[in-house]
Amino acid sequence: MRKFLITIIVLAALSHTVFGQAKQAEFYRPQYHFSAPENWINDPNGLVYYDGEYHLFYQYNPFGNVWGHMSWGHAVSKDLLHWRNLSLALSEYTHPSGSGGKELTKTAIFSGSAVVDKGNKSGLCPTGTKDCMVAIYTGNVTQGDQQLAQHQNLAYSANRGRTWIPYANNPVLDLKTKEFRDPNVFWYAPQNKWIMSAVKATEHRVAFYESKNLKDWKLMSHFGQQGDTTKVWECPALMPVPVLNETGNSAQNQQHKWILFISAGHPQKGFVGMQYFVGDFDGTTFKVDKENPKPILPAVSNVVDYGKDYYAAIQYNDLPARHHSDGPHKPIMVGWLNNWEYANKLPTTPFKGAMSIPRQIALKRTPTGLQLVQQPISEITSLRGVKTERRAVKLNNQSEILEESTNNAYEIEAEFIPGNARRVGLKLAKNGNEETIIQYVNGKLQLDRRKSGDVSFSDRFASVEEAPLSPKNGVIKLHIFVDKSVVEVFANDGERVITDLIFPNKQTGSIELFAEGGTAEFKHVTVWQLKPARQ
Ligand code: FRU
Repeated sequence: MRKFLITIIVLAALSHTVFGQAKQAEFYRPQYHFSAPENWINDPNGLVYYDGEYHLFYQYNPFGNVWGHMSWGHAVSKDLLHWRNLSLALSEYTHPSGSGGKELTKTAIFSGSAVVDKGNKSGLCPTGTKDCMVAIYTGNVTQGDQQLAQHQNLAYSANRGRTWIPYANNPVLDLKTKEFRDPNVFWYAPQNKWIMSAVKATEHRVAFYESKNLKDWKLMSHFGQQGDTTKVWECPALMPVPVLNETGNSAQNQQHKWILFISAGHPQKGFVGMQYFVGDFDGTTFKVDKENPKPILPAVSNVVDYGKDYYAAIQYNDLPARHHSDGPHKPIMVGWLNNWEYANKLPTTPFKGAMSIPRQIALKRTPTGLQLVQQPISEITSLRGVKTERRAVKLNNQSEILEESTNNAYEIEAEFIPGNARRVGLKLAKNGNEETIIQYVNGKLQLDRRKSGDVSFSDRFASVEEAPLSPKNGVIKLHIFVDKSVVEVFANDGERVITDLIFPNKQTGSIELFAEGGTAEFKHVTVWQLKPARQ
């Protein structure tokens, strides 16, 4: 009996400490950002449009809510917002190896891309099919705890991505090394060939290959060992990008430049993030422009997103014409909302990980050279519901509640004149002392999540992010998306972006405007509740 009582007491104590803090399942589930129905996800893979559908493949663990057993999950959408999750596209597989086949070797399906093979140039599409989809991915080979190799492989699908067949002669590219991954393939029309970028991760280099049939790849050139080399290089993405004219529009006969994105280091030491290089690509070599843009922070390369939670973004292949009605098209990219420093520890269940709102990208001329601009796809406005608007709010060392208690799934557009205030901005998902602060202070945009809710799951999580930012004609423009555990902030028409996760203890909170140490004026603030986009 005594033993029994002790067991009960221990169990009760355990359930209090272990489960007492846990939120019920789904608590932090984003409502209009993609997340898998359950389990762990990381990088977006194989982004491609085909036959009326945008495909989103993603790094997925079919067996659990932490990284492992990497496979490709799959979802499709007709508008890049409402996603239908489909069955697993590519699974990790095991095969006997060693003498007498006694050892068991595992090949996990790491990141990669997908293309539509128009006219069956690869010869992979089954007889009678003109086009098929081809996925190009890294096979990560392990035996027990030992990693043996990383090489590039193909799989194809003749039924709009519903089922996939691995190519019989895989791998198609094998350097017999362990750090060679993330093939990003696109069709290069001027020379009728496919181009692949893949990273030699620990050498901080990208290798560029060409192929006419996706099966035989020839090395063309390398780029690397510059920019941020504090972390391994991952997920390269090379693409032509329109240069916007002064009014922010892309003109018919506008100029193009090429951008090479690399997932690598972060302005805050010890974290991972994304950097980009602007230059030219002639079908063989990527040549970087040293002056575009001039790095703002010395020793830090050009930062894609100043938050901690935007990584491994790649571009869509084969976008339909409607995305480039106003001239050469702006690429659309999707990134993974997480950071490897604490990725496995996020307090969410039964899912872990989400994708960004798809972003349209371009380059803009600025006094410091060509600058990347990122904007949420304009289709997002179709989710707008109830709207609240305020104009000409003058604050003198004051704060003002804009919404008392609102569901944390909304969009805000705000324009303010910082005036002589020391700090001016918005407090979001606020309940008592709990708040997420977005503020302009001393030439910088900051997102402060130190009191945003649960920050205790990792000592790497609580932080203040900051991006350099200057008012335009005296005005700071913010476009903010809050979605339960996701915050994406686009400043000055996408010149700066900060993306961060938050884990508030309530699903509703207030929205407050504030100015500290002086006077500021909000010219207007508009809040839209956003409708869920889950299917
Ligand atoms: C990036 C990454 C890739 C790799 C994949 C494995 O987040 O590390 O380099 O292919 O994730 O899941």
